[in-house]
Amino acid sequence: MSRLAKKYQNYYWSPFTQMGDLAEKEPLVVVSGDGATVTTDVGDTYIDVHGALWLANVGYGRTEIADAVYDQMKRLSWFPSFDGMANDAALNLAERLIGLADRENMSRVFFSSGGSEANETAIKMSRQYWRLKGKAQKYKIISRHRAYHGVSMGALSATGIPENRKNFEPLVPGFRHIEAPYCYRCPFELDVESCGLMCAKELERTIEFEDPDTVAAFIGEPVMGAGGMLVPPDGYWQEIRRICDEHDVLIIADEVVTGFGRTGTMFGGRHWDLVPDIMVFAKALTSGYQPLGATLVNEDIFSAYLGKYGEGKEFLHGTTYAGHPAACAAAMANLDIIQREGLVEQAREKGEYLLAGLEELRRFPRVGDVSALGLMARLELVEDADTRAPLPPADRTGSAVSEKLLDHNIILRPLGDTLTFSPPLVIEYEQIDRVLEAIGAILTDWK
Ligand SMILES: Cc1ncc(COP(=O)(O)O)c(C=O)c1O
Repeated sequence: MSRLAKKYQNYYWSPFTQMGDLAEKEPLVVVSGDGATVTTDVGDTYIDVHGALWLANVGYGRTEIADAVYDQMKRLSWFPSFDGMANDAALNLAERLIGLADRENMSRVFFSSGGSEANETAIKMSRQYWRLKGKAQKYKIISRHRAYHGVSMGALSATGIPENRKNFEPLVPGFRHIEAPYCYRCPFELDVESCGLMCAKELERTIEFEDPDTVAAFIGEPVMGAGGMLVPPDGYWQEIRRICDEHDVLIIADEVVTGFGRTGTMFGGRHWDLVPDIMVFAKALTSGYQPLGATLVNEDIFSAYLGKYGEGKEFLHGTTYAGHPAACAAAMANLDIIQREGLVEQAREKGEYLLAGLEELRRFPRVGDVSALGLMARLELVEDADTRAPLPPADRTGSAVSEKLLDHNIILRPLGDTLTFSPPLVIEYEQIDRVLEAIGAILTDWK
């Protein structure tokens, strides 16, 4: 075992990990990266199909971003944004984000340090917004089963993954969940051609059941990530927008994974012309070069907070490192690369190529569902593709396949028995071919 692997075993505690399992197993310790590949402390190089938690959009080893951070830190290491102060890097990035989110009519940016914090901000902002509008009883947040919005208590309460929630009960009051648009295994057992968008209609029924006067916001990922890389059916988001408009409910678009090109559009909601009230960003905002989150709101929400000191309209929320200049400088350089190199278009084209390759894997009887939007794709392994019968969960087949892929020098993260694909947008076609070949080889050997 390498020196660093021993440090892992002796001192480290990884998120979302059963550390007991790792006592006998070598951890993968990454020490460098280049493009879509990373290299470990023992010199092995892997294609990172996982995109390092779905976010390494511009790829590894971009010295241009490192230089931007270095220059920023030499000039100004840090300065906060509380009490009418700010740093120049945060202001420049705010202006740029508002420019990018022009079709969504965003007006203001509130920074934080990651996705959970940015969602926590959005949830609190929407609750106080209705209070400021004289409707303090409009406090409920509706979310979806399978949703992942983060780990802080508000974001976790919106999350719809039971295993993530159960050990931390009781969660925050006032959260409700509706079914997710998981068409391959429709929760209503309907066909997508004739379902009448039941999963969207459920929002209307839930708002009416709860009483629209009690519902503040609906929060959703344009394409669900941790819930299984689920692309909603066409018309879904249009229907959600109609329902929310009719019942005076805000839409929070959690673009933490889908933002900045992942799905082949700058923001995921654009596939359905979604104009949300609040947008939430993190991850690919910096492609991981620095931790940063951002919550954008429209003018209607921002202006509700305006008043005079003493009226109690301030948003008394914010974390120390909100708008950290080093992170904002990284984001600016990251956005420069995304725009200059046309990475949004690349995601669309490479996503089509990847999807065509995944479709070919349907020749294997264990390949159930396959879908992709840009470079956000899924392949669901099943017991029998004809009946869609799932594999026995205890077999942990998805994990076994991803272990085998490591032998092919590929890092891929399964979600249960669904293989997920969200590589750096700079991945090369030849690297996509290698990934498809490796999966094909593993499926060929599967007894
Ligand atoms: C859609 C979505 N929202 C929020 C989060 C939470 O972000 P963070 O882990 O930066 O707190 C994640 C993380 O994976 C996510 O996928």
